[in-house]
Amino acid sequence: MMTEAQLDEILRKLFDDITFTAEPTGLYDPLRYMIAIGGKRIRPRLCLTTYSLFSNRIDDSILVPTSALEVFHSFTLMHDDIMDRSPLRRGVPTVWKKWNEDTAILSGDVMLIDAYQRIAQAPSKVMTRVLDLFSRTAAQVCDGQQYDMDFESETEVPMEEYNKMIGLKTAVLLACSAEMGAILAEACPDRCAALYQYGYELGMAFQIADDYLDAFGDEKVFGKPIGGDIVNGKKSWLTVRAMEKTSDKAGFLTAFALPADTPEQKAAKIAAVKDYYLRLGVDADAKEEIVRSTDRAMDAVSGIGFGPLKMETLRRFAERLVGRAK
Ligand code: IPE
Ligand code: IPE
Ligand code: MG
Ligand code: MG
Ligand code: MG
Repeated sequence: MMTEAQLDEILRKLFDDITFTAEPTGLYDPLRYMIAIGGKRIRPRLCLTTYSLFSNRIDDSILVPTSALEVFHSFTLMHDDIMDRSPLRRGVPTVWKKWNEDTAILSGDVMLIDAYQRIAQAPSKVMTRVLDLFSRTAAQVCDGQQYDMDFESETEVPMEEYNKMIGLKTAVLLACSAEMGAILAEACPDRCAALYQYGYELGMAFQIADDYLDAFGDEKVFGKPIGGDIVNGKKSWLTVRAMEKTSDKAGFLTAFALPADTPEQKAAKIAAVKDYYLRLGVDADAKEEIVRSTDRAMDAVSGIGFGPLKMETLRRFAERLVGRAK
């Protein structure tokens, strides 16, 4: 198994040395920008973490497909920021803000293609399985993003529907990352499936934490504008839970429907909705749900014969992931 420091170093080098097509610069500069501004790189980290449970032999046939997970993820963010009208990502201007929307669309498209080229470098022995998993996942992320947008115009979204939506837009990619590491290491199907479930539950916890931080995080650390979900009328975990809990649905919906055209209106709306969240205690509920989902992730890998060292590696990964402030 690799230490966390070894993993840090491998990931740093992988993304420092990554190269993309040179020209036209108008197409590829935004792509280089997205990768250079970093991010937590949790998906390739998860993939290499599960891979290292089974093997220490790391070469380009493992690293290149692993990097596809980050390129694909960054592509989804480039398009997500247009859809969510978000001006800030990883503490810097988003691509559509810095360049324009057309550039963000086309650079995003070529990033998806680049991700597939990286996937295509997986060892031939596991290629079909990796390609199948990755393609299924990529389509599911689009499904989830569509539900996310559909929900903006719905008054009330049941928790079950919310869970399905975040399962698709976020959790499946972490699940795919965890399983891909196991597939690349030629692990047995039971372990591959268990690691998929581990990644899925972690992904659920991760998106709930993202929703929590969107309202209650520190913008300087989080790197994204606080209150963006409220301004956009997103059905976040906090919104869905607030609607379940409140005895004053009309009051909450009035706050949630406040206009947000000017900076003053935005600030007033965010304050009004957050006030409801705090009075209802949904912030604390979110933290409890994150713990429950993390526990489910550990349960998923408890019956497949991993010794204490491997379980500890997976637990540490989970704790690091959900203990995040960014
Ligand atoms: C952001 O993902 C989108 C979500 C699924 C919540 P990350 O929080 O992993 O973003 P970066 O890559 O670290 O910027
Ligand atoms: C992210 O959802 C899901 C995908 C990008 C697929 P969000 O819209 O919550 O992500 P952030 O908060 O902009 O990173
Ligand atoms: Mg979004
Ligand atoms: Mg967004
Ligand atoms: Mg978010």
